[in-house]
Amino acid sequence: MTDPSELGGLATPAAIVDVERMAANLDRMATYVERHGLALRPHTKTHKIAALGWEQIRRGSRGLTVATGPEAVVMGDVAPNLLLAYPALGGGRLDAIRRLSPSIELDVALDSDAALEALSRAAQAKDRVVGVLIEVDAGMHRTGVAEPEEMLRLAQRAGALPGLEFRGIMFYPGHIRQAVEEQAAPLAAVNELLQRYLDALTSAGLSTAVVSGGSTPTAFQSHLVQGLTEIRPGTYIFNDRTTAAVGGCAWEDCAYTILATVVSTAVAGQAVIDAGSKSLSREEIRAPEGTVIRSAEGRIGPATGLGALLDRPDVVVKATSEEHGLLDLSGTDWRPQVGERVRVVPNHVCVSVNLQLALWGVRGDNIVERWPVAARGWTLEA
Ligand SMILES: Cc1ncc(COP(=O)(O)O)c(C=O)c1O
Repeated sequence: MTDPSELGGLATPAAIVDVERMAANLDRMATYVERHGLALRPHTKTHKIAALGWEQIRRGSRGLTVATGPEAVVMGDVAPNLLLAYPALGGGRLDAIRRLSPSIELDVALDSDAALEALSRAAQAKDRVVGVLIEVDAGMHRTGVAEPEEMLRLAQRAGALPGLEFRGIMFYPGHIRQAVEEQAAPLAAVNELLQRYLDALTSAGLSTAVVSGGSTPTAFQSHLVQGLTEIRPGTYIFNDRTTAAVGGCAWEDCAYTILATVVSTAVAGQAVIDAGSKSLSREEIRAPEGTVIRSAEGRIGPATGLGALLDRPDVVVKATSEEHGLLDLSGTDWRPQVGERVRVVPNHVCVSVNLQLALWGVRGDNIVERWPVAARGWTLEA
């Protein structure tokens, strides 16, 4: 009989977290920000679990970043300070603000008058003060104001509306997907752009307590951007195949895998596992052609496909259906047996986590934790 406290006893597919690798990832980031005098408000959209938010807080994070209403409510149980890095529009986020204890210091990032007005009403209804960060577009062209004049206008409006206080600016360098050693030029461009915004604030006599930036791929280069006060990486807690492809982590730093069972080898050249798009997600890595991923053992895998085996990064998931993942065996002598178990590193861990009911913490082959993914989805109630 299989021991239910061991990996072998788990039904597949199952999401597994190597707790030692996760702790090392958390410690590495905590050490980096301390060395460079930066604050850390990690983005919890990656794990969506209060106990893991607490692990970040107890290692010195000044607060936690959230993107959705459920994340705000769940992380409010463990964090004294939250940044909602998303305008509070659409209902769920405003509800969450109403549910948060007024003792939690809250900042919200936004880029429009409509978002400011909605936030002001929510703050007044709770008789509380909410900090405002104006989001600046640093090159991703997703959200954020395009000119310092617009930032100043919104900042002044934030200062004038009841319940709000202008606290600073936020940007997300999500457009920087180059390998770490090629990030100096794009980060210099971000730096230059940021100085224009900071100069405009100084000229207008507005003080900024917070200049919030940072993503996982750029996290350890954040000291190259002057004026930054904090960073908000999220993925770094687990890392994933995309992070390894840009050199933002080593393959051995990937702490999250999907445990899967080989269910068929009937078609030549491939093995089929029971993890498909409904557990791995289905995102390709955006990396230049020819990008490879190296493990410490010298195994080299391409950055193509939808995931790769933790122990064999050269074996990639070449396609998925909802419940099937097709392992490409064309470049390997390895021939798995039907029934054999494998662990797959997904390309984008945050999307995979949101598909899970719970994550299993493991130490070696022993299960040591089960964490329900409490903040998955967009509402707390089904
Ligand atoms: C606004 C914002 N901040 C921070 C992050 C965290 O970045 P990463 O996923 O690279 O850790 C994200 C990621 O989507 C984000 O959208």
